[in-house]
Amino acid sequence: MELEESDLLTTEVAGLRLRNPFVLASGILGNTASLLRRAEAAGAGAVTTKTILPEPTKGYENPVVVELPFGLINAMGLPNPGIDEFEIELREARSDLTIPIIASAGGGSPEEVAHVAGRLEDAGADAVEINASCPHVRRHGLEIGSSPELIEELVREVRGSVRVPLLVKLTPMVPDIASLARAAVRAGADGLTAINTVKAMYIDVEAMAPVLSNAVGGLSGPAIRPIAVRAVYEVSRFGDVIGTGGVETWRDAAEMLLAGARAVGIGTAVMTRGLRVFSEIGEGLTSYLRKKGLTLPELVGRGRRDC
Ligand code: SIN
Repeated sequence: MELEESDLLTTEVAGLRLRNPFVLASGILGNTASLLRRAEAAGAGAVTTKTILPEPTKGYENPVVVELPFGLINAMGLPNPGIDEFEIELREARSDLTIPIIASAGGGSPEEVAHVAGRLEDAGADAVEINASCPHVRRHGLEIGSSPELIEELVREVRGSVRVPLLVKLTPMVPDIASLARAAVRAGADGLTAINTVKAMYIDVEAMAPVLSNAVGGLSGPAIRPIAVRAVYEVSRFGDVIGTGGVETWRDAAEMLLAGARAVGIGTAVMTRGLRVFSEIGEGLTSYLRKKGLTLPELVGRGRRDC
């Protein structure tokens, strides 16, 4: 029986059922209910909020983003309204949107992340994504996110305070990302988001100084896609994966799925090309699946040598 167009792209990831595999990545349009609503209207299968911390944070001074021919480097400094204010926004978003909302939780200690995660769940999050992989904010990233032992401790703590599906966003800046994935799943994570940005810098040769106010930021966009594909390939043995990093076209999305991702994060492309990327990628992927005579679940992991 030929699948309906609307069914062809459905997928399940970490216990969430999505109308299509395209997930608005954290940090892009994820601050307000109205922006999340726009992503849904544009065709996203799920949305991820900006990382929320226990207290409001202003973030770094401008400039916080630099655009390069092959991607963006950003160092925002985790600006966010804090959990008290964001709870109101999330309740509004939950009552408006029909697609799953994944809430990104951060904090300076496992207890803080667990506290934020529990309150995000209470405010209506369908899943929580732990951000322990920001490459440039002290106490919110690599000190924890690059150690399997600390990831395990963090995930255990957060698992104790939420019942909804729990995802962990991983950094690629480690020799063995599989060990992080294994530790996260062992501690109770239902899924993995791979990858966060890659620590990077851009120097203006005329000014003879780094452009970003923080000097160092995180590289996203097409430049990191091969790193993300490799990471997805390595971690999808351990659990469900949202493959994120430089996806701009249906071919890029197909590559992530072939590597083993069950859903595909889209972030930088929304900033550089606009929200229409969701429908463009959806149309292209639908044609590809029809041409190959495959359903989306049949595509997942098909590019793996060990399958
Ligand atoms: C930022 O807000 O600076 C980026 C957050 C992240 O990379 O996790």
